[in-house]
Amino acid sequence: MKKLTFGALMILTVTATATSAMAQDAAAGKTSFNKCLACHAIGEGAKNKVGPELNGLDGRKSGTAPDYNYSDANKNSGITWNEAQFKEYIKDPKAKIPGTKMAFAGIKNETEINNLWTYVSQFDKDGKTKQ
Ligand code: HEC
Repeated sequence: MKKLTFGALMILTVTATATSAMAQDAAAGKTSFNKCLACHAIGEGAKNKVGPELNGLDGRKSGTAPDYNYSDANKNSGITWNEAQFKEYIKDPKAKIPGTKMAFAGIKNETEINNLWTYVSQFDKDGKTKQ
């Protein structure tokens, strides 16, 4: 019985630690997203700006934000956004999608990219966060 309680406590502790680590990463990602804010909105009520709104990006096909006027390069890239695709893209957008009109040099720092994905991927298509 004692053992069981200890085990349960351990699981609780580990879960709580993982959750707060996620929250920290998302907070750092939000700060990093300031680099995107001039051109992109995300969250409830997000509208297209210079670039398309980024809600529900995880699993979204490239070039499909409603009413956004994409370049052919972006529209026809054939990418479905997920963690791996996003990370490769944001390092060097013009290398991943030659001819994109996204004028952004990219982010090289792996930790920053990880945090950015944690932040961006938490929004569903309605701009609500999953947790
Ligand atoms: C100077 C403006 C600008 C900045 C800064 C910028 N973007 Fe973009 N982004 C664009 C434009 C414009 C497009 C559309 C590209 C096209 O149609 O060729 C785009 C496209 C995208 C796409 C593809 C969306 C889709 O629906 O296929 C993603 C993902 C993206 N940006 C993420 C980011 C992130 C994350 C940042 C910040 C780290 C960022 N962008 C910074 C202008 C910008």
